[in-house]
Amino acid sequence: MEKIVILTGAGVSAESGLGTFRDAGGLWARYDLEDVATPQGYASDPALVHAFYNARRADCLSAEPNAAHRALARLGAEWPGEVVLVTQNIDDLHERAGQPRVIHMHGELMRALCAACDHRWAAPPEMSPATACPACGGAAARPDVVWFGEIPYRMDEIAAHLERADLFVAIGTSGTVYPAAGFVQEAAEAGARTLELTLDRSEVASLFDESRLGPASALVPAWVAEILSTAGVSRR
Ligand code: APR
Repeated sequence: MEKIVILTGAGVSAESGLGTFRDAGGLWARYDLEDVATPQGYASDPALVHAFYNARRADCLSAEPNAAHRALARLGAEWPGEVVLVTQNIDDLHERAGQPRVIHMHGELMRALCAACDHRWAAPPEMSPATACPACGGAAARPDVVWFGEIPYRMDEIAAHLERADLFVAIGTSGTVYPAAGFVQEAAEAGARTLELTLDRSEVASLFDESRLGPASALVPAWVAEILSTAGVSRR
């Protein structure tokens, strides 16, 4: 049975109330990404960076998974083949919807990383430059997220999945940030069919075999029902 590799972006969490980055009024219209999402920004003003991610964490803690997250979790549970979900999102809404095997290529808001000893632990709701590492005791705690200029996580594993994908589906991502924006090409070159489900045509829309435009909460459950019915899995 087919192997499906799914890439999600901020658009899948938009209807849970979490802001996207590049839509009108998005996070990068309100904050300078150089200040809050780069190693240089953290070095020059760690308190500002922690305040930014503390606010994101608070938003995330008060958000709930939406119908798109739930439909993807259903696909993960019921698809007779393999489903691999790679997300650029740092929220935990896929996990809270029950998604098995989430690959967080841009890290996780709910995890902390010690910049001194590389220890990782569950992030407290509020972090600050004084937050101590439980392993080494140093005060170099940062959110365990991948900033611009850093290498995304688990890239070898993702490349191996793309190499063996039969179907690649990108959901709610603008296709502007690499390497994720290049996955459609990698999957297509490996022979996968490719489908985009998003609100507005992405920067890489022309590389997909098919694009469906609309809100994720409608498009994703419809696509999941469709693909499960082709596999003979009946609707509950
Ligand atoms: N349903 C589906 N798609 C939506 C919805 C929705 N309700 N709302 C917005 N979108 C789409 C937009 O059309 C846009 O193409 O989601 C996309 C969001 O794009 P970005 O804000 O650029 O988010 P993303 O692609 O996830 O950004 C990639 O950039 O800043 C970094 O590290 C950050 O992981 C992030 C990366």
